[in-house]
Amino acid sequence: MRKPIIGGNWKMNRGTPIETKEMLEKFIPLVVGIDTVDIVIAAPFTALITAYEILKNTNIKLGAQNMYFEDKGAFTGEISPEFLKEIGVEYIILGHSERRDIFKETDALINKKLKKALSTDLKPIVCIGEHLEEREMGKTKEIIEHQINETFKDISKEAMIKIIIAYEPIWAIGTGKTATPEQAEEIHIFIRSLLSKKFDEETADLIRIQYGGSIKPNNAEDLFNKENIDGGLVGGASLESDSLTHIIKAADKSIKTG
Ligand code: 13P
Repeated sequence: MRKPIIGGNWKMNRGTPIETKEMLEKFIPLVVGIDTVDIVIAAPFTALITAYEILKNTNIKLGAQNMYFEDKGAFTGEISPEFLKEIGVEYIILGHSERRDIFKETDALINKKLKKALSTDLKPIVCIGEHLEEREMGKTKEIIEHQINETFKDISKEAMIKIIIAYEPIWAIGTGKTATPEQAEEIHIFIRSLLSKKFDEETADLIRIQYGGSIKPNNAEDLFNKENIDGGLVGGASLESDSLTHIIKAADKSIKTG
């Protein structure tokens, strides 16, 4: 049985110490005691130290949204995984479509970052997903297969079970256009079948696959009730404590009823 994981990806929407404190102090009491779901807040770098101090004795883990693949050196503007680890970051989002599209991150770069994250003992959340045109051209599965093969190149079975995959169809991100639970489940089943081929069935069964893209309180439960959807990576709705709590409770309910 896979434990669902809900990640709040704040992107660059909330990142000052003051707003971080304000949100988290409201949020913590709302989810206190929930241990059936892994809860992660992925905040901008400027919020991480503040967030860690507030979250350290709670059931909420800290995540970052990006990192570089070296520990130290002349890489102006980049952030070392060692720095993140030292300030209490546990999870790292890699390969988000905004990193791929806006900052031109390639599968090869993401693969390097992934190996580095694993060797630093950060828990990677690796995003994959297709553009709208690719879906309309019937290329979704081809794109997903390519991303899986390239992003997870030379990753061992033992390492793979530490990785969380986030299927985020790009046309559903920030658009209010969610994939239907059936559309998402179809791709999650496909991803699991690829993992089963690449590794084996037991490994494929252990890996958590989140859905991401316009998850809201009113659609979360239907998504999480699908057998292969193990929680979600939430953008817009993670900025407010009430909506994020609602989504976490939907994941909690999906275990209790499922
Ligand atoms: P939205 O929930 O705002 O669509 O963002 C999804 C996302 O990109 C999470 O990483």
